[in-house]
Amino acid sequence: MLDTNALVNTQIFLKSSPKEKLLQENFELKETKLTPIIDNQVLIEIIYISIDAANRAWMQGRTYRSQILPGDVMGGYALGKVIESRSEKFKIGDYVEGDLGWQNYAIRDEKELIRASIRSSENLHMSVLGITGKTAYFGLDLAKLKKGETVLISAAAGAVGNVAGQIAKIYGCKVIGITSSDEKANWLINELGFDAVVNYKNNNFVKDLRKLCPEKVDVYFDNVGGPIFESVLFAMNNFGRIICCGAVSQYDQAAPESGPRGVPGLIVTKRLTLRGFIVMDFEDRKKEAEKQLMDWIEKKQIKPAEDIVIGLQNTPNALIGLLNGDNKGKRMVRINK
Ligand SMILES: NC(=O)c1ccc[n+]([C@@H]2O[C@H](COP(=O)([O-])OP(=O)(O)OC[C@H]3O[C@@H](n4cnc5c(N)ncnc54)[C@H](OP(=O)(O)O)[C@@H]3O)[C@@H](O)[C@H]2O)c1
Repeated sequence: MLDTNALVNTQIFLKSSPKEKLLQENFELKETKLTPIIDNQVLIEIIYISIDAANRAWMQGRTYRSQILPGDVMGGYALGKVIESRSEKFKIGDYVEGDLGWQNYAIRDEKELIRASIRSSENLHMSVLGITGKTAYFGLDLAKLKKGETVLISAAAGAVGNVAGQIAKIYGCKVIGITSSDEKANWLINELGFDAVVNYKNNNFVKDLRKLCPEKVDVYFDNVGGPIFESVLFAMNNFGRIICCGAVSQYDQAAPESGPRGVPGLIVTKRLTLRGFIVMDFEDRKKEAEKQLMDWIEKKQIKPAEDIVIGLQNTPNALIGLLNGDNKGKRMVRINK
């Protein structure tokens, strides 16, 4: 039997709510004692913590999850292995996932966990076969892509964006990405097969976008909201579809800004459809997505892009960096080497 008294848990707490941009000083790392598990609970050793733009939005207020407040262990989706169990559902050695938090060990009730079936590797399970890939897959499923259409994707070099672009290519679309640097733009074009990329940090972003798609945009996969969303509204085709996946440009500040110009005017005149979604809405179709994504990976139609940071203590900087655009592909923290 495992001696939990011998285990020390390292946990990262939110020490203070960020006033504007998230800083290292908003977090605090503490060593704590593990409490014994009770009936229906399991003790989990965490392997990977997913670094998600949404982690920052959870500090702003209530989203699809309760707000993270000072004094809380920082929330975060993670993959781990059961190392002690008082549950009928999970036994020692089972892989589980869920909001396990930024820590080495988590104690959770069985109801809070999902069994993770690792089809390939643990890291692929966290990237293309995980929430990231499924978000891209189901978001584009809602867009009902047609061959030859022009698809524009923001935060294209990020976790969800790069997979969305690669899937849109498989459907035979012209794919244009939006990102913050020429280095990322070259990577998207040369490594991942995007047709073109526009750098939103350039002053002539709107002109560049117009030049790259004079035919205008049929589908916009929006990961960022804010000023980019506003600019893209003007570049949409009549009857275009906008998939609202997230609004990362609005997360790393005290509160989201007021809405963009062109809403609802341009939505009316261009007869646009805006469709928001949360990947968890598609829980009943997750096996279908995993199978399809795996098939595309095996056929080399999707190249997994992972950005792995080592060590729990580096988790705050991993998130701060992601919000500043440091990452290419899916960022995750591996707890141990
Ligand atoms: N609906 C769902 O179920 C669901 C699920 C997962 C994720 N999401 C959403 O998907 C989006 C991407 O999330 P992710 O976790 O995959 O993160 P990510 O794309 O890997 O990283 C975030 C990226 O956003 C870009 N960014 C940061 N600030 C920006 C700004 N002000 N304007 C434009 N771009 C900015 C940065 O790339 P650049 O270098 O290009 O600026 C950064 O790399 C988020 O909006 C998230 O909320 C939604």
